[in-house]
Amino acid sequence: MAKPVRIAPSILSADFAKLGEEIRAIDKAGADWIHIDVMDGHYVPNLTIGPAVVKALRPHTDKPFDVHLMISPIDLYLDAFAEAGADTITVHPEAGAHLHRTIQHIKSLGKRAGVSLNPATPESVLDYVLEEIDLVLVMSVNPGFGGQSFIESQLRKIAAIRARIEACGKDIDLEVDGGIDPDTAPRAIEAGADALVAGTATFRGGPGAYADNIRALRGA
Ligand code: DX5
Ligand code: ZN
Repeated sequence: MAKPVRIAPSILSADFAKLGEEIRAIDKAGADWIHIDVMDGHYVPNLTIGPAVVKALRPHTDKPFDVHLMISPIDLYLDAFAEAGADTITVHPEAGAHLHRTIQHIKSLGKRAGVSLNPATPESVLDYVLEEIDLVLVMSVNPGFGGQSFIESQLRKIAAIRARIEACGKDIDLEVDGGIDPDTAPRAIEAGADALVAGTATFRGGPGAYADNIRALRGA
């Protein structure tokens, strides 16, 4: 069953000197979720923000915080991000030894659990966890940086995961992250995505452009 496409601007492309203001601007511009990219300089070759910043941003919007953890080890930090105000917590299978346990941990904190697949990670990683989770995040770039080009082979993976979600019958979001712009967005949706992360394509042009940028991604 098709859901309306949710747009999740990645604040990685926002002005870090005024993150609160930027979040209020994308909220007003029509963002559905706020995508927060957490990187540790170890699992991925970049460093971004931690739970203290997530907590500081929480009062600036009522929109769900879609927290994408690119950190290893992972389990140690789940509680901190839950307490900071995450709504969905998404993890990479490669970032911890026990994916099933990590998912249960997120659910025990009362949060939605997501699993993210790197471009080279096959969808079979979902075989024994799909029924347990609320969201699948397909990386259409290698995680670590904004502004990279969409990797075409991931369209096949999106379609394969869409089929699995339909077969399982549970309400699971299928989100795509990386290189999403007005050209790639409709193709990801056509393949089966129902949530799109967009950093560069949301924040280009400054606050006056955010509403149009988000509209363009919805294909409206
Ligand atoms: C990459 C991050 C993405 C990134 C997307 O590791 O997970 O969320 O910010 O950036 P764009 O939309 O610029 O490709
Ligand atoms: Zn992300």
